[in-house]
Amino acid sequence: MMNYESLIEEALMQMPKGAFLTTGDTPNVMTIGWCQFGIVWGKPVCTVFVRESRFSHECIKHGYFTVSVPENGTMTEALKGCASCSGRDINKLEKFSLELMPHKSENAVDGIKGCSIFFECKVISQTEMDVNSTDNTILNHHYIEVNGKKDMHTIYFGEILNCYKA
Ligand SMILES: Cc1cc2nc3c(=O)[nH]c(=O)nc-3n(C[C@H](O)[C@H](O)[C@H](O)COP(=O)(O)O)c2cc1C
Repeated sequence: MMNYESLIEEALMQMPKGAFLTTGDTPNVMTIGWCQFGIVWGKPVCTVFVRESRFSHECIKHGYFTVSVPENGTMTEALKGCASCSGRDINKLEKFSLELMPHKSENAVDGIKGCSIFFECKVISQTEMDVNSTDNTILNHHYIEVNGKKDMHTIYFGEILNCYKA
């Protein structure tokens, strides 16, 4: 595996513009903007935030995810597209002419071809955000009610099994 520290700066520079999260057996792809990297439990970990309402929330139960980071400022149309509809209704890979990048570690999820950096991860822990302990400013700004319940994020801690540059 490549030295992941050397990839994090470039990945974080692009993250506010979006990256692709692939999850599930037949991979579904969605755009993410939030992602953390660090050492937890003595392992290199990539942490992603997925709302309960997303189709990706179902797909990630498979236990693995891959974060594919485009080169800074590229793939803007695909990022927009993969944030605008759900894999529940449509195959986004076909719709936005995206090709899968075959995974390198065992059981990992394929990434998205054309990206610059790939983090193949295995979910080693997850936790639901707790509404009661979340700052009100954050709740009001980021969490609207869906069917009478705030659509909170589930936080997934993914051990980085492999990371590499295309
Ligand atoms: C720049 C950007 C970043 C996003 N980041 C996230 C994120 O970190 N977590 C999340 O749950 N949704 C995020 N979204 C929204 C999802 O991409 C969007 O709801 C998508 O359609 C969900 O697809 P799915 O239902 O196939 O999983 C983001 C959208 C944009 C435009």
